[in-house]
Amino acid sequence: MPRTSNPRARTRPRARGIASRRQGQERSQSKGSEMAAAARGIGVAAALAVLAALAPAARGVDRAEFPPEFLFGAATSAYQIEGAYLEDGKGLCNWDVFTHTRPGAIRDGRNGDVADDHYHLYMGDLEILQSLGVNAYRFSIAWARILPRGRLGGVNADGVAFYNRLIDTLLQKGIQPFVTLNHFDMPRELEARYVGWLGAGIREEYAYFADVCFAAFGDRVKLWTTFNEPNLVTKFQYMLGGYPPDHCSPPFGNCNGGGNSLREPYVAAHNIIMSHAAAVRAYRDRYQAQQGGAVGIVVAMKWYEPLTNATEDVAAARRAQAFETEWFLDPIMLGGDYPRAMRELLGSNLPTFTPEEQELLRHGRADFIGLNHYTAVYAKDCIASPCDLGTYEGNALVLAVGERDGVKIGGDTALNGFYVVPEALEPAIMYINARYKDTPVYITENGFSQWSDTSREELINDMERVNYLQGYITYLARAIRNGANVRGYFVWTLLDNFEWTFGYSMRYGLYHVDFDTQERTPRKSARWYQGFLTGDGSPTDQDEAPQALRADS
Ligand code: NOJ
Repeated sequence: MPRTSNPRARTRPRARGIASRRQGQERSQSKGSEMAAAARGIGVAAALAVLAALAPAARGVDRAEFPPEFLFGAATSAYQIEGAYLEDGKGLCNWDVFTHTRPGAIRDGRNGDVADDHYHLYMGDLEILQSLGVNAYRFSIAWARILPRGRLGGVNADGVAFYNRLIDTLLQKGIQPFVTLNHFDMPRELEARYVGWLGAGIREEYAYFADVCFAAFGDRVKLWTTFNEPNLVTKFQYMLGGYPPDHCSPPFGNCNGGGNSLREPYVAAHNIIMSHAAAVRAYRDRYQAQQGGAVGIVVAMKWYEPLTNATEDVAAARRAQAFETEWFLDPIMLGGDYPRAMRELLGSNLPTFTPEEQELLRHGRADFIGLNHYTAVYAKDCIASPCDLGTYEGNALVLAVGERDGVKIGGDTALNGFYVVPEALEPAIMYINARYKDTPVYITENGFSQWSDTSREELINDMERVNYLQGYITYLARAIRNGANVRGYFVWTLLDNFEWTFGYSMRYGLYHVDFDTQERTPRKSARWYQGFLTGDGSPTDQDEAPQALRADS
């Protein structure tokens, strides 16, 4: 990419204060220690927002505000970019079969057969990754490429060879691999046998897969995560439907695959938690001393602000977070049980941990927590007053709302219900740090979506994404200054890709991809990120790039 100069004067994140509208809520939140830590973050955020408005030229963030060893990278996942869906011995995965048999479930009817063709083009992709100046890359391993038929079939040597090439090339480029073992995909044969995560037999399958990966790649991979967003994927698989095996029941929907939304998500989650614990135990027992790496887990984390000062809404925000992150993190990090709010609402639909499971969990504590953080919403209580409960937060008897008194919580993104609220990142991190006793946190995803049918000019001159990233990284720096234990940050994502049920209709990439020609074009956001990481310039100085006014005006 051409050299550029300082972006700060002209790229101004639109940090709309959730903060300034909520002093009363802060008082109620400060009851619990985690909430107090979070609330302090918000209070200072208000001041920052005011300062920013007064002195836009002073806004911005510098790589030097982060420790040199802090990881800055980009993230991807196997099914979303690799393509080569039946090449070199790879087995069918759940998404291969789902997209082929149910094209109507994908917005543009397409699939990941080719996607970014990264399996063939990875060398060029790692070059553009390197040109950004990153020191880490988060990617996932396709389970069906390594074990096409699960534990009872053999290991696919060609699949192992592909990830060896990828890892070796990254290391040659000075980029640390940050590897996700499971990012929504599994061999189709296992999905059919166990109905995905519903059958307890999947635990042994997953533990075997993890073991194969630790043995094959652990001499070079030092940062592992067992699962990506299990708290989100189980909802789309077994509560709301939409992701294979597409199970749900009223009030959440009527799914092709049948299902029981009141019970299955929690059974699946229980199996995932125990699969995580089994993998961590294998790593601790057989690999960690020799390989010296760490294993964590990545959860999706929205930040929930109470819609009003009413006690009910304050409790709703708290409850929504329990059903979001604590569902997985409490058993894994605190040892052996689900949050009380879940037990109270779900009763016997929530599994209990047996003494043997609790024992395994004691060995399954994660070394770090990954947070995929994109947005904040207001939480409205649905216990004291009625709401539509067939929603993402419906199981917590909470309704997520984007507006208060007609004012949106933040700017829009393409994804409905996802707003630009950079100042929420700080309390989110503080909350996790406080609740889980300072366990190191990585922001494993953060990114901005655009619709593909946006004009080519806006897709490339993506000032809204520049502002989004700059805003969130600014608040990340603040969190660190205020004592947060954060070790890294990954933009979602390197390349436009197969965005699950949105197919190719939604784009998050630093690089624009033409899916007909596989041409990659750096967006302004790529230039901005490169400038931020290397001190090498501004996205707004590119001759070939017309000035984008939308986000600056
Ligand atoms: C989270 C998921 O991990 C990733 O696969 C997805 O593409 C992004 N969020 C954007 O929706």
